[in-house]
Amino acid sequence: MNSKKGLALVDLDADGVDRAFRADVLEGLSEPQKAIPARWLYDDAGSQLFEDITQVEEYYPTRAETEILRDRCADFASAIGRGRAVVEFGSGSSVKTPLLLKCIEPAAYVPLDISGDFLRSAAADLSAKFPGLPVHPVEADFMRRVELPSEVADMPKLGFFPGSTIGNMVPRTAVDLLRTMRETLGEGSMLLIGMDLIKDRAVLEAAYDDAKGVTAEFNLNLARRINRELDGTIPVEKLRHEARWNDDFARIEMHLVALEDIAFEVAGRSFTMEAGETIHTENSHKFGKRSGNALLLAGGWTPVERWLDNRGLFSLILAEATIPRSAP
Ligand code: AVJ
Repeated sequence: MNSKKGLALVDLDADGVDRAFRADVLEGLSEPQKAIPARWLYDDAGSQLFEDITQVEEYYPTRAETEILRDRCADFASAIGRGRAVVEFGSGSSVKTPLLLKCIEPAAYVPLDISGDFLRSAAADLSAKFPGLPVHPVEADFMRRVELPSEVADMPKLGFFPGSTIGNMVPRTAVDLLRTMRETLGEGSMLLIGMDLIKDRAVLEAAYDDAKGVTAEFNLNLARRINRELDGTIPVEKLRHEARWNDDFARIEMHLVALEDIAFEVAGRSFTMEAGETIHTENSHKFGKRSGNALLLAGGWTPVERWLDNRGLFSLILAEATIPRSAP
């Protein structure tokens, strides 16, 4: 049992192997285009490497979004108003949350995270910064509908989903998540969501392939994790990180490219890659005003305000769970 409610969020076998990780990797390596879901990038080492990425020169999203939160405090106060329960989806180790909370006088804060450790430290940090604010952490997989604590049942909600994490999902999964969030938060709720913007291809590719090689390490760590946790023999030194812009789908893709023909085992199964063949490890979708709005509308959210950073790199969108007034 992994959580106090006895609801196992991580299912380990007798050898302590995460069953879902093994299944995703074995299935993903058996496809014609090898692909592994991006969520597996975030073990302890991967989470630390992502924190390092947010500090590298070329990776602008974190700085741009933080700038919007700093500069637009008065706008948030008037557009969101006081007294909402703020529900953060995947609180992680967020430093962005206090910037929002101090603008809007919330009635409660509900961080949701699949990792109990992250959750408890995030909740403790927040309580220390906002002594009067009720904090109700919930250990949950936010891809599914979450039962919110009874204390916030009657409060109006604001969902907070920063970081452009929505961009990691293909549109049908993103729409499923937006609809699930609407069910979790209820009618009349609002959502403040970060969406990274479509921009010059060179800027995007540099952001996902920085000169110091931090993003490369983040990507290669997935192969190392497979070797560590799934008895893998992937020759990591024969793989190279690549970030490519897919213009048809408006997304940056991360791949691990085989430098030569290789063969390896994972969890007792054999795999081969030809030179140049890749494992697709992440999508990071980028949005324009219209494509971002279309995604939100498809998920049941009506956009009401949109803010950009000074350089126009990143957007924060406020949306409402209401039926658009223009609906016939
Ligand atoms: C954590 C999903 C916002 O897509 O920009 C950063 C992950 N991957 N560099 C992103 C990531 C490579 C990041 N998100």
